[in-house]
Amino acid sequence: EEIKVFCPATIANVSCGFDVLGLALDSVGDEMTVRKIPENSIRITKILGQDLPLETEKNVSGVAGLALLTKSDYEGGFEIEIDKRIKPGSGIGSSAASSAGAVWAMNELLGKPFSKLELVQFAMQGEKLASDVAHADNVAPAIYGGFTLVRSYEPLDIIPIPTPSELYATVIHPQIEIKTSDSRKILRTTISLAQGIQQWGNLGGLIAGLYQSDYDLIGRSLHDYIVEPIRSILIPAFDKIKANAIEAGALGCGISGSGPSIFALSKGESNAKKVAASMQETYKNIGVPFDIHISKVN
Ligand code: HSE
Repeated sequence: EEIKVFCPATIANVSCGFDVLGLALDSVGDEMTVRKIPENSIRITKILGQDLPLETEKNVSGVAGLALLTKSDYEGGFEIEIDKRIKPGSGIGSSAASSAGAVWAMNELLGKPFSKLELVQFAMQGEKLASDVAHADNVAPAIYGGFTLVRSYEPLDIIPIPTPSELYATVIHPQIEIKTSDSRKILRTTISLAQGIQQWGNLGGLIAGLYQSDYDLIGRSLHDYIVEPIRSILIPAFDKIKANAIEAGALGCGISGSGPSIFALSKGESNAKKVAASMQETYKNIGVPFDIHISKVN
C-alpha cells in the first residue's frame, strides 16, 4: 500500500508575522512516495535532486515520521522516497515540505487517525532538527493549505485564514544558501513597545485584509520593521528588488522565511508576472544568478 503526495513550498513570516504567519504555494513543491512496511521503523530509501541524509534520525521526514509512529498504535512502519525539488536553505520551507509531507502521507495510509493539529505537532519535530527551533509557520500552511496563523505555541493553536481568490506570489531565489539556524542567531531577542505597536497593527491589518479580500489593505499591511532590516543585509540587492517589485505593481514584498528568497504578493496573475519580470531584470543587471517561481496562494 503506497501513496504519492505533493509537498508544497511555503512562505513563512509574510513580513509582519514572524514565526506565526505562513502561506502555502500551489505550484512549487516536492513529491513524496510513502509506503507501508511490516517493520516498526521509518526507512528513507531514495532522495532525488538533493544530497540529503538518508539516516532516519538525521532526516526531517524521518524524525517527523518517528514522532507520528510513537503516538500511533500501528505496528508496522513506513518507507519514504523523496523527489526533492525545493532547495534546502532557500527560504521557502524545504524542511517543512518534507516533514509535513511525510506525516500527511502516513496519516492517509493509516486511515486518518490524527487531526491536522496533531500532524503539525509531529512535523514540528522535523523543523526542530532543521533549525533548532520547532517553529510551525511553515509546517502549518503545508498541512492546512492557504494562510495559517499560529495564534499560540503553548498550547499549539493554529487558525486557518481565508485566501482571497486572486492572490499570487512571486518568489525569487538568489543562488546562495542561508541556514535558518544562522539567520536566527543574528536577530535581537527584544523589541521596543513602539516596534510592537507597528508590527501588531500590520499583522491585524493583514489578517483583516485577507478576510475581506481587501487587496489594498493587504498591501498597506505588508511591512516588517523588526526582522527584515537585520536579515536583508544577507540578501543580494534586497532593497532594490523590493523597490522595483512595488513599482511593478506588487502589493508588498519581503523576505520569504529566513531567506534568501524574496517574495512579493500581487493581485492577479498578470501582475505577478510583471513583478517577476522586474525582479529578474534587477538580478540580471547586477549579475546575481537566481531561479524564480510564480504561484497561486492556495
Ligand atoms: N519563522 C522562521 C524564521 C521561518 O523566520 O526563522 C523559517 O523558515
